[in-house]
Amino acid sequence: MLSPAQLTQFNQQGYLVIKDFISPTQRQTLIQRAAQLIEAFEPPEKRSIFTTDEQQRSSDDYFLTSGNAIRFFFEEKAIDNNGNFTVPKQQSINKIGHAQHRLDPVYKAMVKELGFSDLGLALGIKKPRALQSMHIFKQPSIGGEVGLHQDSTFLYTQPKSCIGFWLALEDATVENGCLQALPGGHTIALKQRFKLSNNGGTEFESLDDSPWPEQPLELLEVPAGTLIILHGQLPHYSAANTSDRSRQAFTLHLVDDACDYPTDNWLQPTA
Ligand code: FE2
Repeated sequence: MLSPAQLTQFNQQGYLVIKDFISPTQRQTLIQRAAQLIEAFEPPEKRSIFTTDEQQRSSDDYFLTSGNAIRFFFEEKAIDNNGNFTVPKQQSINKIGHAQHRLDPVYKAMVKELGFSDLGLALGIKKPRALQSMHIFKQPSIGGEVGLHQDSTFLYTQPKSCIGFWLALEDATVENGCLQALPGGHTIALKQRFKLSNNGGTEFESLDDSPWPEQPLELLEVPAGTLIILHGQLPHYSAANTSDRSRQAFTLHLVDDACDYPTDNWLQPTA
């Protein structure tokens, strides 16, 4: 599935770009399925759920149990201070996650069809486990920035094993917030781990407090249909979407089931 040259590239730079991985029909299948799910989604009455403590707790629960559900997370700028939408519902969603690859027949079939498990095996995962999926929208004008991070922070195993698959469902350009990555940055230490805290909620545990390498990020502008495979420790980032076009992507993260999955990881999908 992967050539020796591709494996070498992945091992050297921590990411691999594969053009035309997914057909226009397959892309449309996922884009349309997401639109259907959003259409059927009833936004909660209290959309100011991000503002008060009580409401914060329920939004935490909504987030923390999303490993076994299909949940809808709003763009920050989609809701004003009074809890009203600033955009139509279809343009309000930041992402859908995190278990559609297990719970939704369309996503489930597509993940199987695209052979991510085999790719995981080719990349050295012994027992691929699809831990989470996300449909990311990066909505026109309001799609938020995602700060520099390593995916193993959120998908942690001992030893570390996470590999991310990022599929461009639409063209990703600098204007609409394409991925940016630090070439070779997967060799640095994992900086932090996002986990359940003792008093409920979540926290970041610092594992390495050295600064990020001072090296420019590479812009990964890619046409729709491209797959980008990301090493779990590769630092990557995406800017806010300042354009009038969305930048939809589907992501799937594999970990190795042969590794230990700590019980205080924030994401606790049932087997
Ligand atoms: Fe990421």
